[in-house]
Amino acid sequence: MATLEVTGLEKSFGGVRAVQGVSFSVAPGEMLALIGPNGAGKSTCFNMLNGQLRPDAGAVRLLGQDITGLAPRQVWRLGVGRTFQITATFGSMTVLENVQMALLSHHRRLGGLWRPVARMDAAPARALLERLGMADQAARPCGILAYGDLKRVELAIALANEPKLLLMDEPTAGMAPQERVSLMALTAQIARESGIAVLFTEHDMDVVFSHADRILVLDRGRLIAKGAPAVVRADPRVREVYLGSGAVTGAH
Ligand SMILES: Nc1ncnc2c1ncn2[C@@H]1O[C@H](COP(=O)(O)OP(=O)(O)OP(=O)(O)O)[C@@H](O)[C@H]1O
Ligand SMILES: [Mg+2]
Repeated sequence: MATLEVTGLEKSFGGVRAVQGVSFSVAPGEMLALIGPNGAGKSTCFNMLNGQLRPDAGAVRLLGQDITGLAPRQVWRLGVGRTFQITATFGSMTVLENVQMALLSHHRRLGGLWRPVARMDAAPARALLERLGMADQAARPCGILAYGDLKRVELAIALANEPKLLLMDEPTAGMAPQERVSLMALTAQIARESGIAVLFTEHDMDVVFSHADRILVLDRGRLIAKGAPAVVRADPRVREVYLGSGAVTGAH
């Protein structure tokens, strides 16, 4: 069964048809990229999946369950994680404490006993940081981390909730090119190991073409192409949309 199945999604803002008849699915462990020029409707799609926006029409199913129109908190509870474009961590707390907080809230959600962070076993948070290559940063306050490390903490916080689906809207924005590739390689590895479906938007075509299993191309609210990276890159309509940018024509 698909982790996420979207059918006939529609959203207009006044006269602007931001998203029109969008349908796709994401399988467990799959990295699916949603690309398209500025204003194509990518963030609007995301916001309909995470509950921020109610679709005008269409359906969103998570593991077969209809979640269309549910509030963000309900969607999160059902296992839809997200990373934020603007990093949302507590600056004065350490990396370890931030991850412990996230694990604590996840366990409480599952009906576990409440206990203060200070008395929590730190081992699960340390294990998660180890997995993200962040073990050596555990004791540092988040407020002094380099941007790329902060993005990893954000990913750790999202993973603490054991999501079935992870939504990442421009996860590598503001990062140096090498950091982008390594963050997405790590995300892909974890997604495959844990069977997490990942839907991400990204303007860096190197990142898209090297880490997506499949790509969806949105233009003015409509899906104009979908498929494996090689198929999408060769699609004449995609080339037309990106013409002049050279973005999908390079020989990577
Ligand atoms: N809250 C809103 N109110 C009015 N119009 C909106 C709103 N949100 C988005 N739009 C419009 O909907 C269209 C799609 O915007 P959206 O932000 O989804 O695009 P995007 O693909 O995420 O672009 P970008 O690559 O710049 O992030 C645009 O024309 C935008 O101006
Ligand atoms: Mg956007």
